[in-house]
Order: sequence, then structure tokens, then C-alpha cells
Amino acid sequence: MDEQADIHGSYWLDTAPPGDPAPPLEGPLTVDVAVVGAGVAGLSTAWELARRGRSVAVLEAHRIAAGVTGHTTAKLSAQHTLVYDRLRRTRGREAARLYARSQTDAIRHAAQTAVELGVDCEWEDTDAYTYAEDPARTDELKTEAEAAREAGLPAEYVTGTDLPFPVAGAVRVTGQAQFHPRKYLLAVADDIRRLGGTIHEHSRVTGLDEGEPCELTVESPASTTKVTARSVVVATHYPVFDRALLFTRLSPRRELVLTAPLDADRAPRGMYITQEQNTRSVRTAPLPDGRRLLIVTGEHFTPGTGGDVEERFERLAAWATDRFGDLSFSHRWATQDNDSTDSVPLVGPLHPGSRHAYVATGFGGWGMSTGIMAGRLLSERITGRDCAWSDLYDPRRIASVVREGAAFLKQQADAARHFVGDRLPSATGPSVDEIAPGDGAVVHVSGERRAVHRDESGQLHAVSARCTHLGCLVAFNRAERAWECPCHGSRFDVQGKVIQGPAQQPLERKEL
Ligand code: FES
Repeated sequence: MDEQADIHGSYWLDTAPPGDPAPPLEGPLTVDVAVVGAGVAGLSTAWELARRGRSVAVLEAHRIAAGVTGHTTAKLSAQHTLVYDRLRRTRGREAARLYARSQTDAIRHAAQTAVELGVDCEWEDTDAYTYAEDPARTDELKTEAEAAREAGLPAEYVTGTDLPFPVAGAVRVTGQAQFHPRKYLLAVADDIRRLGGTIHEHSRVTGLDEGEPCELTVESPASTTKVTARSVVVATHYPVFDRALLFTRLSPRRELVLTAPLDADRAPRGMYITQEQNTRSVRTAPLPDGRRLLIVTGEHFTPGTGGDVEERFERLAAWATDRFGDLSFSHRWATQDNDSTDSVPLVGPLHPGSRHAYVATGFGGWGMSTGIMAGRLLSERITGRDCAWSDLYDPRRIASVVREGAAFLKQQADAARHFVGDRLPSATGPSVDEIAPGDGAVVHVSGERRAVHRDESGQLHAVSARCTHLGCLVAFNRAERAWECPCHGSRFDVQGKVIQGPAQQPLERKEL
């Protein structure tokens, strides 16, 4: 970790072809379906609809498959840590079965798609494991193995794995997969275009008028224009249009990722996750020279509350070195996702009154299988077909005190703490002079709070410290040079530009 200049960002973005640049939208457009967001859920939805003969336009504020999807660990698994026991207790056995079926269907569908499109996306069939090193946790793993098996997955409790360190026990689910997500999705994007659809990068959707038809306002670097569409899908990770107050049921979570090459004979082939040690995930990927790339993930935190994120990277590196021996780290990045309060993603109508607007969010760190599942589900709904698991994922499901109570209240308490607490006058806080090069802090200037960053040359950059989503106070993540909002996870660069929503507007530039 000492020679960070040699460490790259996301491995998936670093090793996929750049892809054909998609032109920003510069004039009005009329389509059957407009999809907002070109990650795995948006592209999968657009592709399914284009194959059914619908005209589609995909509108992406940045680049194709370069946001959350470009920073995933790219596991395609129906085993989502301990979800099956929780599901059968909170929503019943049938819900657990449908969850397993829907996720398994998505993985099989992705495998067929890769073959159909002839894309070399480094697809590998493999087994998924949820493990524990602490013997005190083996009972919950045994219960989860039994619940997953009852839900229809090929699951069993095991004590042996191909990890190079001992575990107390694990749930193994066979027949899962891993791949290179950006290579896969660039091929899907090409096929959308071949089928007559259009994709527009650097085209930020800033307005949605739900009518018959719907109308979207789209801002690109050169113009502001309109898209008219019979149906709209909001697949922007955290929904940029939130008319059902979904933010009350979503908690943002950020995790760190490190990679290092391993000799093939030292590399595990399974995909692993544990909830111990603040979550650790392990998989490997093939490298062109015959070695494998170890990909470890962990150290999750709420954006804006991670403290010294550099220290978190160091802890993750130490953990990996301790278990895999000497490592030369090649890439490091961070990934972000949202947990829903009942552990089931929200995929379906955007709000109770929606007739033609849909949303896909709350993937809980399992965005690959869930994003592909969302594409299947939403394309069925939009084309008027039944989907067996529509109700399971329907965002209009009533929040239940039994199944969501604690998580729901915690999310509200956290957001309220930032929203109210951030407004209380505080006598403490650093002065501008105390901000070291490379660092940033929220400071009081003329009765206002400003987010001030001092770059390595000593120059100061000041923006408003109020998040443009709902007004919480941002905090600086020094390791990633970004302002982060702890309430719902919006992120901004040091100039105030939006990196990640739900905020759509930049932080206002300020003078010091
Ligand atoms: Fe909601 Fe900042 S992301 S207030």
C-alpha cells in the first residue's frame, strides 16, 4: 500500500475496452420506453425491451457501466449471506422460494445472454460460500443452509473450503457464477444499438413529468431537451426521482475493494463472504498471464462517516496479507450500494399512483444478479406479462413493523440525527488554516457552513456544505477526495460536481 502511484482504480474499468462513446442527447426524442441509468439494471431492462420490439432510449449522466456497476465485485450469486432464514421468518416460505427462483433465473439468463452475444466476459461457474471463522456462528450458518435448501437452492453446510485459512463453517451453494461486468454490459449496450435503441452518455435527467405519455427533461453539456416516452424506468442506483419517499427505506453503504495477483495454485476458486470483521468478501478472476487476481472487499461504512478511509484500506490490506501471504496490490476502489429495510430490493412501480414509471433500487450489495433480475421483471411488467415474483419486489409493499421495524427506525434516526444535528450551531470545528494539503473540512464562514478542500498545491476550493438533495451536511473522504452525504449517500467532487445521487444539482461554489 506504500506505492499508491502504481495502484489503479476499478479493475473492471481498467481492463475493459473503452467502448464506443455514446453521444449526449442533443434534441428531442420520442420512444416507447426511456431508461434512466446505464448500469446493469438499466441496460438489462433496455435490452429485454428492445428484444421485444420496443423502441428504447437509455440516458446516462456519466458513462455506460462505469458507476456502481463498474465498481462491483461482480459475483452472480443467489446466495446473499443469510437472507433465506430472514425471509422465511419475515415474509414466509413462499417469498424465500420466489427470491431463490428469481435470482437463479437471472444467473441462468445472464449465462445464456453471454453465449447469445458471443462475448468473452470471463464467465466462470463456481460455488458461493457464506462462512464464519468464529465457532459461535456455526448454528446460524446451519440454519441458513437449511433455509436456502428449503427455498430450492443447492445449499449445504460444510466445514471445508478452498480458502487458505481455516473456517469454522460455511454455507455452500453450488452452480453460481462470476464474470467481468463491464465486458458483459458493453456487449449488451452494442446489442441495444443493433436492435435500434439509442444510448446517450453525459445526459443527465433532471425532470420527470408522469403523464400519458411521460416527459423527461434531459441536460447534456450542449443543451437541455425533452424525451417523450410511454414508460419510464428509473435505474439510477439511488432513485433520482423519489415520489414514494423510498429514501426512508434505503440505507447507503460504502465498501472498499483491493486486488492483487496470486499464483494460480494459491488462488481460491469459490466466491466467499463473511459478516465477521466488518464484512469480508473474496473472489478471484483470471489474468492473461495464467495467474489469478485476488479481489477482497470489506470495511463497510455509511458514506460521510467513514473516518480515516485510508486507515480502512490499510486494515483491509493487512487482513488480506495475513490470510494470503505477501501481496502486491494492483487496484483499489470503493463500491456503494443501498440496503432496503426488509433486505428485499425495490423493483416495480415508482410510487402507489404510478401507471408508467418504474424503479429498481436497494440491491443490498448483490447488484449483478438483482440488476439482471430487475431487467427481466420490469420488461415483463411494461409489456403486460405476469412475472411470478412481481409482488415480492414491489416497492409498494407495506412496510411491516415486524420485518422492517428496527432497520426502518435506525435509518430514520440516522438521517434525522444528521439533518437536525447538522443545523445546531457548533462552536467547534477547524479553521481554514488548519486544513492540511489533500484534506478537507466543513468550516464556518460568515455564519455559513462551507466545505473547503485544500489541494496538494495549497489552493483552496470552497463549496456549500449543504447537500443539494435534502440539505444534510457533507463530510470529506480524504482517501477518495470526495464530499459525501451521510443521509442518503450523495457524493460530490471537490468542485461540487455530483459523482453519485440522489442529489442532482452540484454543491454551490463559494468564495472564501
Ligand atoms: Fe439526501 Fe444528502 S443525499 S440529504
